[in-house]
Amino acid sequence: MTYLLALDQGTSSTRSIVFDSQGRIVGLAQREFAQHYPQPGWVEHDPLEIWQTQRDTIGEAIHRAGVAARDIRAIGITNQRETTVVWDRRTGEPIHRAIVWQDRRAEPTCAELREQGLEPEIRKRTGLRVDAYFSATKLKWILDHVPGVRARAQAGDLLFGTVDSWLIWKLTGGRHHLTDVSNAARTMLMDVHTNAWDPELLDWLDVPARMMPGILPSSADFGATDPDLLGHAVPICGVAGDQQSALFGQACFRPGMAKNTYGTGCFMLMHTGDRFQISGNGLVTTSAAQPDARPAYALEGSVFVGGAVVQWLRDGLRAFVRSSDIEELARSVPDSGGVMFVPAFTGLGAPWWDPEARGTITGLTRGTSMAHIARAALESIAYQSAALLQAMSRDAQAAGAAPLRELRVDGGACVNDLLMQFQADLLGIPVLRPTMVETTALGAAFLAGLQAGVYADLRELESLWRVERRFEPAMPRDEASGRLAEWDHAIRQACAR
Ligand code: G3P
Repeated sequence: MTYLLALDQGTSSTRSIVFDSQGRIVGLAQREFAQHYPQPGWVEHDPLEIWQTQRDTIGEAIHRAGVAARDIRAIGITNQRETTVVWDRRTGEPIHRAIVWQDRRAEPTCAELREQGLEPEIRKRTGLRVDAYFSATKLKWILDHVPGVRARAQAGDLLFGTVDSWLIWKLTGGRHHLTDVSNAARTMLMDVHTNAWDPELLDWLDVPARMMPGILPSSADFGATDPDLLGHAVPICGVAGDQQSALFGQACFRPGMAKNTYGTGCFMLMHTGDRFQISGNGLVTTSAAQPDARPAYALEGSVFVGGAVVQWLRDGLRAFVRSSDIEELARSVPDSGGVMFVPAFTGLGAPWWDPEARGTITGLTRGTSMAHIARAALESIAYQSAALLQAMSRDAQAAGAAPLRELRVDGGACVNDLLMQFQADLLGIPVLRPTMVETTALGAAFLAGLQAGVYADLRELESLWRVERRFEPAMPRDEASGRLAEWDHAIRQACAR
């Protein structure tokens, strides 16, 4: 039998999954790790803890799968993106905790770049908005604030990497310093037209080029694991940022195919083929996972608070005990009774981009119950995702491309049938839930399997993707439009502060 091992290093937990060649899970292990909040708006991870949890889960997943390390044909890595690690080339010791993608500390540098009028040029080269979300300004913060670090970086003693690079380095015993295009595209330092670090961007951000990893396609030879790790050297053959990996795992390989991942936040990506397109509707452009040297792009929008609104109701308001209880509570009323809930706890992302917006509940009456609020909270996830899809459709139309015909879904909250039906109702297109919802890890396994010769081509991968349930839109379109108009009204109130 042939097996593929996917390492899924996420924001709140680290997982390792052994897949068989049909894309079925045969072993899985997961570990949570500490989140550090040293100041308001700052979020850090300990890179050594990330590595430790990854190493532990690898052993456990292989053990649970009941396979030997030599039966693992290849490893695929997928990871939280943008999170920035700097370590010593000789000792392998991180010189600072990793600055996580959610961390806002680098905003002043972004403001400077905007003031210097550099944003349009940065957008043209990277597809991104100038924002503290991306790695570049986090890296600059480390170089500017950790004593002695800039000189060591200039001397070639320090290396930079997103989490994929850090893991490759550790897995290969410090022999390989590499990343893939989809991760590099999230740094705001790579020219997505040439897939190379842009010397001018490095210069504007004051980043020494010698600390940057080599960039490879997402299916490639990333080196082999140190034989001491598993008792056998296993090749690392696939790497992609988690959202691009999920797009790949959903077999969205062609222009106009889109997926939405319902996690703590929601991430929607639409493949645009080899066409680099700047969004006119508040989305960012990013490199999709690229299994070979051909360019592939996607439009991306993110919702900052998706499933996190359910956690807030559970932990903040103590509205129920388990997150899964929300479906029953929300179903106990026929609708939200006119309540609209905009969970803008940390501002609003695409397509509104308003960091000052705050959470707002409108339409309360004496008859409002917790069930109405729970229903409105659940619906807010679908409203925010609908706004992303509308933005994507407008961009597709502007480019003369075909409109979106369906949305593929994954992530924890996609098991909620009420939410998925409401999503289809709002969008007016079918929502497809696959049998395998671990699409992020599956994408990395697919990318590795292509390089290792387990799969012949994309067509073979398409044949492995299957629908578990298809949610057809059932709401009349004028009712859906009316609801979306009410949502826009609530958004305006959340933004008017
Ligand atoms: O861009 C951030 C994203 O990659 C994080 O994903 O699933 O780790 O929250 P996740």
